[in-house]
Amino acid sequence: MRVILLGPQGAGKGTQAQRLAEKVGATHISTGDIVRAEIKSGSELGKKVQEYNDKGELVPDEIIVEMAKPYLDDADAWLLDGFPRNEAQAKALDQALEDIGEDLDAVVALEAPDDALVVRLSGRRQSQATGKIYHLQYDPPPDDDPGPFVQRDDDAEDSIRRRLEIYHDQTEPLKDYYSDRDLLITVDAEQEIPKVTEEILGAVRRKEDA
Ligand code: AP5
Repeated sequence: MRVILLGPQGAGKGTQAQRLAEKVGATHISTGDIVRAEIKSGSELGKKVQEYNDKGELVPDEIIVEMAKPYLDDADAWLLDGFPRNEAQAKALDQALEDIGEDLDAVVALEAPDDALVVRLSGRRQSQATGKIYHLQYDPPPDDDPGPFVQRDDDAEDSIRRRLEIYHDQTEPLKDYYSDRDLLITVDAEQEIPKVTEEILGAVRRKEDA
């Protein structure tokens, strides 16, 4: 399975990728997680990408493509979360897949209105112990996750608004890019989390069987 999860910030790409990866045994590749791990390492590259991350700006294409590529090559089956985010990145992904002789199975676009997304991102917490994503109200951490549960640096309101603006301007047009290649599946991301997972799985399987 090689599936891209597209969608605005807070639509649930990370949440769904974690659940789907567990269900189907694919690797969850999140370019946001790759960026945050680099920042945490304190490397020169980490310092450079932190400037973009904290302001809610995109990391320049040539840097993010180089950071993502080794993960794409390493895994046989993956769910790609947060990449590509513009046409240049989509073309770089096309080239990377051609180089290894693989095809995309589907591109899932998660859809939800901006107002709901701001509420979701403000209540998001991630477990430092397990990496699992939760929401204080909609998906509270279970008793067996020891936490601590931390808020992301870029989940401040200014940064959230900027990320949504960039999404509508640069990433949303990719829906047409993939729809023209008959790869796009759209899913209502305002439904409850398990229902969204079920819908994605059903739609991807139908696409694989077609
Ligand atoms: P990244 O980590 O990818 O952040 P993002 O794009 O802002 O996306 P989010 O993680 O905020 O949203 P999500 O859809 O994954 O939501 P989640 O599942 O957590 O990127 C961070 C930064 O890295 C970028 O700003 C950029 O600087 C850089 N970067 C990364 N990739 C790049 C690229 N390709 N090019 C350039 N730069 C790049 O869910 C959100 C909350 O909602 C959670 O609390 C969850 O519990 C809750 N929730 C989820 N689904 C539901 C539901 N159905 N009902 C109720 N609550 C729900």
